[in-house]
Amino acid sequence: MPGMNILGIETSCDETAAAVVADGRTILSNVVASQIDIHAQYGGVVPEVAARSHIEAMLPTVEAALDQAKLGWDKIDGIAVTSGPGLLGSLLIGTLTARTLALIKQKPLYAINHVEAHVYANWLVDRDSQMANSHSDFPPAGGSKSGFRIESGMTGEKEPRFPVLALVVSGGHSQIVLFRDHLDYEVLGQTRDDAAGEAFDKIAKLLDLGFPGGPALAKSAETGNPDAFAFPKAKLGKENLDYSFSGLKTAVLRTVQDLAGLDFTAPSWDLHDKLTDSQKRDIAASFQKTVVDTLVDRIMVAYERYQPQSVVIAGGVAANLALREGLKTRLPIEINYSPAHLCTDNAAMIAALGYHRAQAGRAVNPHALQADSSLAM
Ligand code: KG4
Ligand code: ZN
Repeated sequence: MPGMNILGIETSCDETAAAVVADGRTILSNVVASQIDIHAQYGGVVPEVAARSHIEAMLPTVEAALDQAKLGWDKIDGIAVTSGPGLLGSLLIGTLTARTLALIKQKPLYAINHVEAHVYANWLVDRDSQMANSHSDFPPAGGSKSGFRIESGMTGEKEPRFPVLALVVSGGHSQIVLFRDHLDYEVLGQTRDDAAGEAFDKIAKLLDLGFPGGPALAKSAETGNPDAFAFPKAKLGKENLDYSFSGLKTAVLRTVQDLAGLDFTAPSWDLHDKLTDSQKRDIAASFQKTVVDTLVDRIMVAYERYQPQSVVIAGGVAANLALREGLKTRLPIEINYSPAHLCTDNAAMIAALGYHRAQAGRAVNPHALQADSSLAM
C-alpha cells in the first residue's frame, strides 16, 4: 500500500509518546511527553508514578500526534504499540489505549518489541527536511556522498543496508543484534547484568552528577582525564559477544571509597561530597572510556565475524559522543546513528517497525494483546 501511515504508541518507561510515520520512514509527527521533571525529585523512575502520568498524558499525546501530522483517523492505516519489555504498569496504559483505539477506529494493530524498535530510528527521516536523520560523517571513497542510493519518496541520503549489525544500548537493554532483513534477526550478545545506560545512571548517582545520569556523566567526562583511573574491562572470552558492567561498577565504587579515605563498607550515597570536582570529572571520563572500549571491542569481534554492510547504534546511550567516536575510529565502515531525540525513547521508531509488521501481514488480535514486561527479542 503506497503512503501507509502508522500511528505509533510508546509507554514502556517514563515517556508517553505518540507519532505518525509514513512508509516506515518519514516522520509526520513525533510527540514525546517526558516525565523527567517528575522523576528527577526521586533520583530515578518510580513505576507507580510513571503509570499514573501515562494515564494523564496518553490521549492528549495521541491527539497531538494526529494534529501535528495534519491527519484524521481516516488516513491512519494501522496502530503499532510497544507491548514489551518495560515497566508493566506503564506498558498496560499504552497497550490498553492502542487496543481500544484499534477496535473503535477499526484499524489493524501491531505489537512491537521496544528494543527491536530502537534500531528502526536509523531509518527515520523528517518530512520537512531534506537532511537524513541517519547521519554519516564518513563520505564514501572519493569524498562525495552521491554514491548513496536515493529511492523515490526518500528524503534521506543514506539508509542502513542488510545485513545490519546493531548495537542497542539504553537504560534497560544492551544487545548486539544481526539483522539479515527486516523482522529477520539474531541476538549475538547481551549484557550479563546491568544495561550500559543503567551503569551510566548508577555511576552518575554515585558521583551526584544529576538526572538522567547518562547525559550528565557524559558532560562531566568532557573535561576529565579518561586515563586517570584504569578500571577493569570484564573478560568473558575473546570470541564471546556478551559483556558485563557489574564488576566495573564495583571497581568505581571502591575507587571512590579509597579517595574518600573510607573502607568498602562506606555507603555509596554518602561519598560524593568527599570528592573534589576534578576527581569526579576524572572518574566520569575513565568510567565512560571503559564502557565505550568494552562495547567497541565486542562490536569489532562481531564485525569481523559477520562482515555486515552497515553498523547502526541505537537506544539512549547511542547519543553518547565518546561511543560514536570510539566506533568511528576503529570500524573500517561508517556507522549510522540518529539524532539524540530519536536515540532515546520515542514512538516514531515504534511506528517505523509497525510498518514492516504491516507489510508482513502480522497484525495481532486487539481483544487478546497482552503487555509483557520481560518480552525478549
Ligand atoms: O532508550 P532510552 O531512552 O530508554 C530505555 O529504553 O532505557 O535510554 C535511556 C538511557 C538512560 O540510561 C540514559 O542515562 C542513557 O540512555 N543516555 C546516555 C546518554 N543519553 C542518554 N548515556 C550516555 N551518554 C549519553 N549522552
Ligand atoms: Zn528504550
